[in-house]
Amino acid sequence: MPDPVFLATATEIVLRAGEIQLAGQEKGFRVDKKGAIDLVTEIDLECERMCRAVLAERFPEHDILAEEFGGSPAGKPKSRFQWVFDPVDGTTNYAHGLPIYCASLGLEIDGVREVGAIYDPSRRELFTAERGQGAYLNGRRLRVSTTDTLLDALLVTGFPYDMHKQGDELIDLFGTFLKSARAVRRLGSAALDLCYVAAGRFEAFWEQKLHPWDVAAGALIVEEAGGRVTGMDGSPFDTAAGHLIASNGLVHEQVVDVIRAFRAARAPERTVND
Ligand code: IPD
Ligand code: CA
Ligand code: CA
Repeated sequence: MPDPVFLATATEIVLRAGEIQLAGQEKGFRVDKKGAIDLVTEIDLECERMCRAVLAERFPEHDILAEEFGGSPAGKPKSRFQWVFDPVDGTTNYAHGLPIYCASLGLEIDGVREVGAIYDPSRRELFTAERGQGAYLNGRRLRVSTTDTLLDALLVTGFPYDMHKQGDELIDLFGTFLKSARAVRRLGSAALDLCYVAAGRFEAFWEQKLHPWDVAAGALIVEEAGGRVTGMDGSPFDTAAGHLIASNGLVHEQVVDVIRAFRAARAPERTVND
């Protein structure tokens, strides 16, 4: 079991990020563009600075990988500990005042996901997990849903920021799932999508072209709630690979099968490689 100080620190940081995010919605904030549609707000930067300052003070030797300022400086000796932080997951929602966003902080020790904390300040929902200790929502134990049929399943997905350039395959796969499941949602926060699988609100989530900070904490929360996380082809999950299926376990193979059949049917014209 990881040292409890790590979960306490992760929780403190995402709660503080939530306060910064809510205050930003009250007072307003500057928004800049990172790409054609990819935004960054001054609140993303403020949350990440806060996280880096807390971690640097408590665990100066640990590594940090976070969305806005990147990884540890070149030349710094690599430690066994890597914190992975998304200061605002759901920045597009945040910038538009749509209250579906969170902060997400995970800790990997020797490359293994050990701790995760995700906080949605709009609903005051704190999702946490430690390896081997279960997943919790505001201190209450989480379990994935027991639905075992894709046709009865509520699914969620997301789309990458380069969607405008090469989105056809993703849109067609989305359409295929619309015809295979009860319904499909797109909320705009991968970390919350994962938490909602853990909480039994969704049966499964799939997405490609994600980053480690989108999924490091949420994947552990799903696993600790009894769910399953793999690559989109059913291969073992790797945070760096960028693609995943997270599910309640019971519909997992059905989701893999839909993707496999979809890709086989389009094999000659495939453009997006995971
Ligand atoms: C994004 C959100 C979104 C997902 C994108 C992510 P950001 O993260 O998680 O749901 O579809 O792929 O990049 O940019 O809001 O931190
Ligand atoms: Ca993100
Ligand atoms: Ca972000």
